[in-house]
Amino acid sequence: MTQRDLITGHVLQFRGNPFTQHWAEAVSIAENSAVLIENGTIVAVGEAARVSGPDVTLHDHSGRLVCPGFVDAHVHYPQTAIIASWGKRLIDWLNTYTFPEEMRLADPAYARTIADRYLDLALDHGTTSVASYATIHPTSVDALFEAAAARGMAVVAGKTCMDRNAPNGLRDTAQSAYDDSKALLDRWHGKGRAQYAITPRFSPTSTPEQLTALGALWSERPDVLMQTHLSEQVDEIAWVQDLFPEARDYLDTYEATGLLGARGVYGHSIHLTPREVARLSEVGASVVHCPTSNTFIGSGLFDLMGLARAGQCVGLATDTGGGSSFSMLRTMAAAYEVAQLRGAAVHAAQLLWLATAGSARALHRHDHLGAIAAGMDADLCILDLTSTPAITQRAAQADHIWDAVFPTIMMGDDRAVAQVWVGGKPRPT
Ligand code: GUN
Ligand code: ZN
Repeated sequence: MTQRDLITGHVLQFRGNPFTQHWAEAVSIAENSAVLIENGTIVAVGEAARVSGPDVTLHDHSGRLVCPGFVDAHVHYPQTAIIASWGKRLIDWLNTYTFPEEMRLADPAYARTIADRYLDLALDHGTTSVASYATIHPTSVDALFEAAAARGMAVVAGKTCMDRNAPNGLRDTAQSAYDDSKALLDRWHGKGRAQYAITPRFSPTSTPEQLTALGALWSERPDVLMQTHLSEQVDEIAWVQDLFPEARDYLDTYEATGLLGARGVYGHSIHLTPREVARLSEVGASVVHCPTSNTFIGSGLFDLMGLARAGQCVGLATDTGGGSSFSMLRTMAAAYEVAQLRGAAVHAAQLLWLATAGSARALHRHDHLGAIAAGMDADLCILDLTSTPAITQRAAQADHIWDAVFPTIMMGDDRAVAQVWVGGKPRPT
């Protein structure tokens, strides 16, 4: 007899994109609803899910919000131990804190310790899928995929490639970046829930030869993602102009080397020129908003409403450890605040969609991740909407469900995560 699990609670449901249509048409919360899970997959939602029998186990989450597991579309798991490091902007922050720590992941045992620690922290915060950069060491990619497989998590990751402007011990070459990335891709892509992403760190740390070699690899394997950084800080953009005098703009350093495409995922993308915005949208590439990082490292105010309303594919991410939190709730709150500073109010429905379906779409995994519907993978995050006294007293004033949810988005953290499901199984507590 197949075991089935029935979860009851308020269920977050998507019918469309709440940025290109009215949020209320695209997103709803079915109050006192149900989700039925069988063999790792959601098989029914709503009345159709309300089955009973000796093979059905009931998980009563009445009053809680049943969400898709959060999808964090841009993280650096090797930076877990240096999160919240004080006082630097991007390039100094990389040289002072990040590169020395990434060097330590040359030791495969340390890499596995950090991978385990990072994924446990992600799950504690309701994040069931991530797209992560590793370090230049191929064993750091193995460590993350092995740790993810042990937890049943769907993870995207790639070896970070750098052949200049990085310290000794943290540089590869154009050829070794190609060879190592190809070997890792062959070893991991499509193995269980793992997906490989070709990962040049960003143009300042790759020669044109390395970018071209990785562009060639991508053209041989266009089914995989390519992730990198784009236009995060103004000083960085000026540096890119110096390093690539022929390039029309930052995006052109990728475009000219075969690294612009629909499966390209461009982290940050804050200070874009009109040409860059047009090209990203023309090719159907994804950009990823990392608001806690953008405020913490002082990068700038991403144009969420402008880009998302224009139909640009946008994901949401912590950017651990440039970001200051592992929590996608804190990240949604920061996205709200950054948009307010640009004069727009993002609705809770839009924030929750971004943290789940939006990020899954940015990673081209929306056919099976990021939504609660029959046929989707059963990765869930169940939120307690009264997790602290401060949230409880505010939620008590709510006269409709969205007003009860918003305080948890703005003030919630891992204490709001009542239960996490990964691949159809509740995470052991
Ligand atoms: N740009 C290049 N590398 C990084 C990184 O590790 N973090 C952030 N925030 N930006 C980057
Ligand atoms: Zn990053």
